[in-house]
Amino acid sequence: MKILEINGSTGKSTLLVGEKLANLATYLPPSQTVIITDGNVRHLYGDQFPEGRVIEIGMGEGIKTLETVQDIFRELVALQADRTLFIVGIGGGIVCDITGFVASTYLRGVRFGFVATTLLAQVDAGVGGKNGVNFSGYKNMVGVFNQPEFVICDPEVLRTLSVQDRGCGLAEVVKHAAITDDRLFGYLEKNVAEVLSLSSEAVQRMVYDSVVIKSEIVNRDEKERGERRKLNFGHTFGHALEKVHRVPHGEAVSIGMMAAAKLSAKKGRLADAQVVRLGNLLELLNLPTRMAVDKAKVIDALRHDKKRENDMVHFVILRRLGEAVVEQIPLPELEAVIHELF
Ligand code: GLY
Repeated sequence: MKILEINGSTGKSTLLVGEKLANLATYLPPSQTVIITDGNVRHLYGDQFPEGRVIEIGMGEGIKTLETVQDIFRELVALQADRTLFIVGIGGGIVCDITGFVASTYLRGVRFGFVATTLLAQVDAGVGGKNGVNFSGYKNMVGVFNQPEFVICDPEVLRTLSVQDRGCGLAEVVKHAAITDDRLFGYLEKNVAEVLSLSSEAVQRMVYDSVVIKSEIVNRDEKERGERRKLNFGHTFGHALEKVHRVPHGEAVSIGMMAAAKLSAKKGRLADAQVVRLGNLLELLNLPTRMAVDKAKVIDALRHDKKRENDMVHFVILRRLGEAVVEQIPLPELEAVIHELF
């Protein structure tokens, strides 16, 4: 097991890469524990859960809402859960996001931790203290920054991931490599078969390197005032595609990264050959690099992006594979990209 730390303004988060779900009980306080999970994770791994009340939520992006949060609040009130409560989210990004939001707001905040059970949650969503829900069709519009006390990343539970869930995680690993780490990018290129099959070695490398990259960035900029914005590479277009066309997150981010790389090249920041390399890797990992879109609707979604300030968007531009910068791009320039590239 490898241990990393995030020292956030809301507390320390210990990231346990290679720890087992079965050891979760050793990280819990003696007070009341409530587990939040989904039906799939409970069915597959419920026998490894520690003692404690289990609250099961639905599955899919559609349940990441304030209604689900309210349902959980009702259960916690019925359980007479007080401020000594510890909540553990065992699941993927949706479970972690909802658990963190519930724990941060119930009784003005109780202690919480995660067991991240998808590649996406282990390399990105479970790490870094962003918790929240979608609102009015827009991703993560309502939420808080608050660090989980621990995040357990158990490689064993990745064996049961669906191909789609694998793709979601791989897109975020490519993102980390593209924005900060050309050696990780080279590793992915050279080890496509191992990466696709999530071999033990590949999982160890991808999860550990991603958690190192993300924790270092979050330690420098927890509240996304500057450098953390780089972690949104591919997500400006990606979130718009997800909203309008309901494509899975990984596919949307993959297409979004290609569009951002092409814009980087168009602005003279990135060599064309690097755009080709990014596209080749994504395709080798069975991730899409383009799709037909409803341009008017995608442009409308871009106008509601969280990263927009007046008519400008904090947009992540690549300078080379392994180095990104954040630039303020006028919204009309991004709208032109939709017309040209999609
Ligand atoms: N997923 C981007 C971030 O955590 O900042």
